[in-house]
Amino acid sequence: MTAAKRIGILTSGGDCAGLNAVIRAAVHRAAHYGWEVVGIEDGTQGLLARPVRYVNLDLNRVDGAMMRQGGTILGTTNKGDPFAYPMADGSRKDRSQEIIGGLRELGVDSLIGIGGDGSMAILRKLARIGGIKLIGIPKTIDNDLGITEMSVGFDTAVAVATEALDRLQPTAASHDRVMVLEVMGRDAGHIALSAGIAGGADVILLPELPWSVAGVADKIKRVQAGGRNFALVVVSEAVKTMEGVKAQQEFSDGQKRYGGIGNYIGHLIAEATGAETRVTVLGHVQRGCPPGHNDRVLASAFGVAAVDLLAEGKSDRLVAWSNRRVIDIPIEDAIATYAAVDIDGTLVKTARGLGIYVGDA
Ligand code: F6P
Repeated sequence: MTAAKRIGILTSGGDCAGLNAVIRAAVHRAAHYGWEVVGIEDGTQGLLARPVRYVNLDLNRVDGAMMRQGGTILGTTNKGDPFAYPMADGSRKDRSQEIIGGLRELGVDSLIGIGGDGSMAILRKLARIGGIKLIGIPKTIDNDLGITEMSVGFDTAVAVATEALDRLQPTAASHDRVMVLEVMGRDAGHIALSAGIAGGADVILLPELPWSVAGVADKIKRVQAGGRNFALVVVSEAVKTMEGVKAQQEFSDGQKRYGGIGNYIGHLIAEATGAETRVTVLGHVQRGCPPGHNDRVLASAFGVAAVDLLAEGKSDRLVAWSNRRVIDIPIEDAIATYAAVDIDGTLVKTARGLGIYVGDA
């Protein structure tokens, strides 16, 4: 057994529900081995600061309240690739050695990184250069990291989107309206598909499947002809327009994110069906809420397993959920496998079996 005495833990990339449950679990398991845990603040940003920004995590710091707490107590960042760090003068600088120096300053030779594929790729590169033992824990509401069946945060995001549909349904019925709900998910339609099925949607549009105005309008007209006065439409944020473009918003700092397809489709639906249509963009409420029980359990299992892997002397591995248990796989393999919605898979078939329009087959 390798005796790592002091391990670092950080959260990286967009936050999601369940991150604090991971941190709590890792601290508990580390205490079992008699190890210290330092929580690095704001992902790799904390390691660039001098002195390094961190917090000592022990059992007194991680009570059960963390299970219920959204966000991450450590803070996170989805900006600033340390290998091409954006400097104030507009140039890019390789700051990887500063980060490795930061880990040395902390006296840490093992790191648990909680992140998505982008973060894992960066952390892996840093760990290899710096000779740091790295265990990755997959988190992303998008659930697009291959191999793991479930990433931390996805289940809660689906629950929030489902609840949004539960709340849109009565107001849709009261006003005879078509309600369009735009959900996150980046290039994968997992949130839209699961929430759409769970929330009784009539139409689910996914980035993975082509759709047409005629197809959507036909479904809504059939709903109306059947005597129902409202319809629910779920649209994943990266669904393409009729021109084949993914709608994006640009922020004042130049960053771009998907967004706007819901309004585009809502307008087309109103035109094609004559139905009064309203659009809700769910946005970050899918991320910043208390985790549901599935994410709390998954996060706890991942946190414990990650520390156990370090205790076994393993490194460069990602924990993953498969067949009702935690497995570990090379990080390289995990990030090489992108998990989009399987258009021939069970959930697309289920949606079609329920009469939901999920695009033109
Ligand atoms: O990857 C998670 C995610 O929430 C995506 O679903 C979404 O497109 C993006 O992050 C939003 O990023 P930001 O928090 O930077 O606006």
